[in-house]
Amino acid sequence: KRKGFIFDLDGVIVDTAKYHFLAWKRLANGLGIDFSEKENEQLKGVSRVRSLEKILSWGNKTLSEAEFEKLMALKNEDYLSYINKMDENELLPNVKKTLLYLKDKHQAIALGSASKNARFIIEKVNVGQLFDTIVDGTDVSKAKPDPEVFLIAAKSLKISPENCIVFEDSVAGIDAANAANMISIGIGEPDVLGRAHYIFKDFTQISEEFLNELINA
Ligand code: G6P
Ligand code: MG
Repeated sequence: KRKGFIFDLDGVIVDTAKYHFLAWKRLANGLGIDFSEKENEQLKGVSRVRSLEKILSWGNKTLSEAEFEKLMALKNEDYLSYINKMDENELLPNVKKTLLYLKDKHQAIALGSASKNARFIIEKVNVGQLFDTIVDGTDVSKAKPDPEVFLIAAKSLKISPENCIVFEDSVAGIDAANAANMISIGIGEPDVLGRAHYIFKDFTQISEEFLNELINA
């Protein structure tokens, strides 16, 4: 059977959370707001605008619209300085192997990311040719947990949502996949991703047998 396999980017294909962390931490600390890994976890899968809103609310701060825009631009500049140095070595373990396996089995493959930098990152790690379609933060109007990003991906793949499988590392992303009526596969920790249909620590734990089961289900 031809299924749709939709991959989130940040935290699934590459570990960019560490770069988002550095950039948000610098911004937050600059405003006198504490920012640790715990806060960073809550920004996974969350859009850039919503992330800054959350940070400001944690610090009880308000900004003018102009200041808000300026800080978002600065954060992204800082973030891109890390992204610029990325290459294939930053692909997470077994991700490329999984993509190649699915491609070999003639499955439809999409990227479904909240990031407006997704296409650039995909180029940097050189896997663009493995995706049939890329849907990112520039294509959607409603952020995860809204299912929009995954529904657009399914439509573009011409596969019905119930025949799509989503790989996600964020709670918002798992909720979005479930809301889209797709099979959700959490990549990360069971205590965080409890609502996923399946949970794996990373792609080294996902066997070809399991992928075959998904394809043949
Ligand atoms: C992903 C990341 C989030 C990030 C969002 C927007 O969902 O997990 O941490 O805020 O993308 O990314 P962007 O590259 O557009 O700032
Ligand atoms: Mg993610």
